[in-house]
Formats: sequence, structure tokens, C-alpha cells
Amino acid sequence: MELIIADNRKDLGRKGAEFILDEMKKASPFILGLAAGNTPVPVYEELVKKYEAGEADFSHVETFNVDEFAGMRTSDERSFATQLRQQFLDRVNIPFARRNTLESSSGSPRSACEQYEAKIRAAGGIHLQILGIGKNAHIGFNEPSNAFSRRTQRVRLDERTRKASRSLFPALSDVPGYGITMGVGTIMRARAILLLANGPDKINPLKRAFLGPVNPRVPASILQFHPNLTVVVTKEAARFASASYGGKRWQH
Ligand code: GLP
Repeated sequence: MELIIADNRKDLGRKGAEFILDEMKKASPFILGLAAGNTPVPVYEELVKKYEAGEADFSHVETFNVDEFAGMRTSDERSFATQLRQQFLDRVNIPFARRNTLESSSGSPRSACEQYEAKIRAAGGIHLQILGIGKNAHIGFNEPSNAFSRRTQRVRLDERTRKASRSLFPALSDVPGYGITMGVGTIMRARAILLLANGPDKINPLKRAFLGPVNPRVPASILQFHPNLTVVVTKEAARFASASYGGKRWQH
């Protein structure tokens, strides 16, 4: 597990993008798992900047989004798919046919999930999965639970998660109650994982994830077992690594 500390949000963008571009040199086609949310935004900005400057090429990249609101059309302006298109996909040269989304607005969510897993397998598996971390230490939409989920599935969203998504909707009651997410097992099968965190809100989830025991009540804690994990955090969020939690300290 490698910890990279960025000076600020912009630097997190630079360091995250640099890491992704280096990984992208290792395979063609290169299968990249994307996360939405605020944290990866500066990383996508930097990738777009590199592309516009002629310093990055994405023509060999295929993408899979890690999560989505359940039952929402991916063309909906509040969907994660739309955010990712606007922030990144529509601004670089990833072929249209190789941008995979979690569409569950028609048909059974279960078959949408099975098809998504099949597509990931057919692509040969994910080379690099980008992740953020929720305030309750969720990854994707994998909420605290009694067991780690194995595959892509529909999940009930925690109230805390719904509140965190509130700004996308007119009222809290409009925030969907369910999400669709790659399972913890799907995420763990990625050959490399890049976890991004920014801001003081993420100190506590990072402490619980990396200084506490591996426990499905703290979904991100499973990442302690991933053989190729890189964590890029701003200085502020990095305070988790100098703290002690349950008598344990960061020791990687
Ligand atoms: C959201 C998403 C996650 C995201 C996380 C953190 O609810 N389901 O994919 O990584 O919560 O979001 P943010 O980066 O905005 O803090």
C-alpha cells in the first residue's frame, strides 16, 4: 500500500492523474474503473488538460463506472454517468462504444448487474479502479453491512449517503433510496486501485478503514487486503496516518 500526500486539491489532481497515466502505459486495451463524486474532479480536470495539450491519449481505454443511482437513466442530468461524461469522458478520446455505464432504468436491475459483471469479465477485468471514500467509509455504493458484497448489485442507500447527495436534487425526499454498485468483490478483483480522499471529513473514514480491523461495517477496510493499492490524499486528509486508532497506527 502506497500513500501519496498532495499539498492541496489541485495537487491531488496532478498526482492522481500522473499515477493514472503511468498505469495506462502498462496495457492496451486498458480497462479503467471510474468513480464520480467531488473528490476525483481535479484528477479528471488534469487528465483533460493533458489530453488537450497532446500529452495523453485515451484511444486504448475502456471505462466502467463504479456506481449509479438505481432506476435512474444514465442520460439524467443528476446521474453519475452524466457527471463523468461532462467532467471527463466527453472531453477526451475514449471511444463511445467503450464507455460502460450502470443503466438500470428499464428491465430488471438484477439482469443489468449480471450483464455489467459479464462485460467486465469479457473485457478481461479492470486494470485500475479509481475510488473515493464515503463519510461512512463506503466504496462505490457499498454501504456498511454484515457481509462484503461479491458482485455488482442493487443496494439500499444509507441516510448519510442520501444526505451527501442532497445537492443534486431539489429535496432530500427526491434522492433515490437505492443505488447500483460494483460489489466489493468486483472492486477487489481490479489489478490496481487508486483511492482518493480530500478534506477533513475523510480523516475519520480513512482511520477506520486503514487503522481498524477489516470489517464489512467499514467497507473500505477490505482495501487493506488489496495487493496493489495506492492512496492519494490531501495533507488535511493525511492526518489520519499520524493518528492512532484503537491503539493502532499507520504502518505501511
Ligand atoms: C458517493 C459515491 C461514491 C463516492 C463517495 C464519496 O456517494 N457513491 O462513489 O466515492 O460517495 O463522494 P465525494 O468524493 O463527493 O466525497
